Amino acid sequence: MIRKFKPVVFLACLIPLALLGWKAYSGALGANPIEVITHATGDWTIRFLLITLAITPIRKLTGRLWLIRYRRMFGLFAFFYATLHFLTYIWLDKFFDLHEMLHDIAKRKFITVGFTGFVLLIPLALTSTTGWIRRLGGKRWQALHRLIYFSAIAGVIHYWWLVKADIREPLKYAAILAVLLGYRIAVWAGPKMSANKAKSLRESRVEVPEA
Ligand code: HEM
Repeated sequence: MIRKFKPVVFLACLIPLALLGWKAYSGALGANPIEVITHATGDWTIRFLLITLAITPIRKLTGRLWLIRYRRMFGLFAFFYATLHFLTYIWLDKFFDLHEMLHDIAKRKFITVGFTGFVLLIPLALTSTTGWIRRLGGKRWQALHRLIYFSAIAGVIHYWWLVKADIREPLKYAAILAVLLGYRIAVWAGPKMSANKAKSLRESRVEVPEA
């Protein structure tokens, strides 16, 4: 079932790119095509990052364990759209002018933080294979892949900083990210808190001396 469904999900993930391609082909990208491409690829990067981060909570809360099989694909699509987004910037926007790019990355803080978000995704994409999980060992691999949290945070800040007035859209993404990260903090802190509670209960129990 999953084997059959995976190619369908894969193709669905390519729809945003196909739509962009179709718009470009039919001359429907408007007066500022670079802006349209930058925005669409940026939007899909943050969406795929959040979809990837949503897999674990949904899987645990609904018991649909098979969802894990899609996490890597969604994560790689986040990287794919981030690469297209970055390429649009360095190629279509800056024409590979390294000097201007470095100046921009250093001077415009929303570009600095976006660039950080992108760089953080590179080791995750490179080590996404089963071979790398084996090579690094489960624990170390998992620790490395927590970089996705920081990449998503950087992505949301990047978006927040670049909008001029209406922050509703980045705020939506920030709220979703807060829930997804909040869930992880609760899962991590829950057992620690109940262990502490049990310990303090034990300690506060009055010892009754034996007669
Ligand atoms: C994790 C990495 C990144 C994420 C999640 C991300 C996300 C976004 C989003 C959501 C937008 C706004 C789209 C819209 O308005 O509909 C955007 C715009 C933009 N991003 Fe990124 N981005 C990332 C990395 C980068 C990088 C590495 C660069 C370039 C070095 C970059 C340059 C830009 C530019 C120039 C804009 C358009 C700004 C404007 O409209 O004035 N982004 N990005």
